[in-house]
Amino acid sequence: PESIPVITIDGPTASGKGTLAAAVAARLGWHQLDSGMLYRATALAAMRQGVDAGDEAALARVASSLQLRFDGERVLLEGADVATELRFEAVGAMASKIAALPAVRSALNALQLSFRKLPGLVADGRDMGTVIFPAAPLKVFLTASPAQRAERRHKQLISKGISASIADLWADLEARDARDKNRSVAPLKPAEDALLLDNSGLTIDQSVDRVLAWWAERNPFG
Ligand code: CDP
Ligand code: CDP
Repeated sequence: PESIPVITIDGPTASGKGTLAAAVAARLGWHQLDSGMLYRATALAAMRQGVDAGDEAALARVASSLQLRFDGERVLLEGADVATELRFEAVGAMASKIAALPAVRSALNALQLSFRKLPGLVADGRDMGTVIFPAAPLKVFLTASPAQRAERRHKQLISKGISASIADLWADLEARDARDKNRSVAPLKPAEDALLLDNSGLTIDQSVDRVLAWWAERNPFG
């Protein structure tokens, strides 16, 4: 698996990581890992089972026994589609709380590594370039202004029929970013060799072209 190429895309909430990763994976014909979904699914499963947000051992058990399957737009948790619930901000907030717990993170390691399959993988999250795939030949750190991120997340939720106020979302995003940056395990930060991309003024296509151009320059496999 070490020889299978990986492009990592890390960055704060609603910076556009998932959208960019999906588009780059589609253009290259590669697999995709949305690692945030694994934390969100663990959070949702724990909420459903009534597991306490402070019970690290129980949360790690939930993470290591996750019955999760991706099928196009659908995300199946124990066979039922939970794609909509996973996007709720309450689930994102719980995800960022449990993601600070080392036992939960290590319980999800093997599952994340298993997504690395031929012909390649585009993985997005917070620690794809720093912890999970530290030898990836291309690491991108994606940012956008807080105002744009709150507005994008708002539009995205509305389009899924989930109501939310921009002011509340902004506050939620800042709280989550602060927690993700300040935790002691796998904090959100660019890898030393990451390329920074601020997509505030860019269209999705322009960001995709930027990453594909970087990949063309760096592709160690020719
Ligand atoms: O994965 P992450 O939370 O970083 O963000 P996302 O879910 O990919 O993007 C959040 C929303 O911003 C989506 O609805 C994207 O379509 C939108 N977006 C945008 O409008 N312009 C961009 N350049 C990138 C993303
Ligand atoms: O879509 P958005 O960027 O809002 O969040 P996400 O990528 O779905 O991730 C939800 C939460 O999971 C984040 O706030 C992080 O705390 C956590 N996470 C993480 O710790 N490490 C990852 N590789 C991915 C997500």
